Amino acid sequence: MHMIPMVVVLGGLLLPAEAGAGESPAHRMPPMAWGHLLTLAGGFGPLALGGMAGTGAGAPERLRLPAPSPEETLPVGEAIRRRRSVRRFQDEPLTPDQLSFLFWAAQGITDPAQGLRAAPSAGATYPLDLALVSSAGTFWYRVPGHELERVGERDLRADIARASLDQAWMRQAGAIVVVVATPERTTRRYGDRGHRFIAMEAGHVAQNIHLAAVSLGLGSVPVGAFSDRDVARILGLGEGQEALYIICVGRATEP
Ligand SMILES: Cc1cc2nc3c(=O)[nH]c(=O)nc-3n(C[C@H](O)[C@H](O)[C@H](O)COP(=O)(O)O)c2cc1C
Repeated sequence: MHMIPMVVVLGGLLLPAEAGAGESPAHRMPPMAWGHLLTLAGGFGPLALGGMAGTGAGAPERLRLPAPSPEETLPVGEAIRRRRSVRRFQDEPLTPDQLSFLFWAAQGITDPAQGLRAAPSAGATYPLDLALVSSAGTFWYRVPGHELERVGERDLRADIARASLDQAWMRQAGAIVVVVATPERTTRRYGDRGHRFIAMEAGHVAQNIHLAAVSLGLGSVPVGAFSDRDVARILGLGEGQEALYIICVGRATEP
């Protein structure tokens, strides 16, 4: 394998050397087994611990996603042509492979040597984080390890749907991705202009997710109509964090 200085290989992904520092390398469970456990247990039961890192007392539950397979996707023109907003979903969880590709497309590291990501960011300040709300609970996507860190076990999709002006169909989306900004990361360099940059970046991230979803044969829709305050409360956002945009992804029901 071609080796890049200061880069380590974890779970089949090339990551910056500091990624996952202090963690024992998690071994990868077969993707279907992992999805099966999430589906059956409705979350990380004891049987699923083999796929997680840092599961000691008080340590966050982290699940390393499988390596994405961007080479298996549709040509970009075909993905753009096929993209359409979908609002009718089969209520089924996404597989780890699907989640891996969606989060990689949104914020994954594509240049490990420099730590640059799939979506552009003003001055590489990276003000956006991604929360996943699903039947298996609530997670944060952790970029350096390409991991999902679970922060809640309950299925909060109905709460997010209510906070989104009662767009009830959102409850069936396999994955609700909430784009959360920490504006200070960008405004400390760019001042007020940073707010505009952050909104632009949310669009980049969302579009990457939409095109990735099309490539996976999934449907998606952006949601901008929601109560910022309610979504922030549901996700337990802190001072200085703002929910900016929501993207629902899932398997579309047959028309
Ligand atoms: C910023 C933004 C916010 C949106 N918010 C919602 C929303 O809250 N609910 C919804 O069902 N669709 C929402 N949409 C999707 C649009 O309704 C949709 O993109 C439009 O009807 C065009 O259809 P298409 O996406 O299939 O091309 C939003 C789209 C954008 C760009």
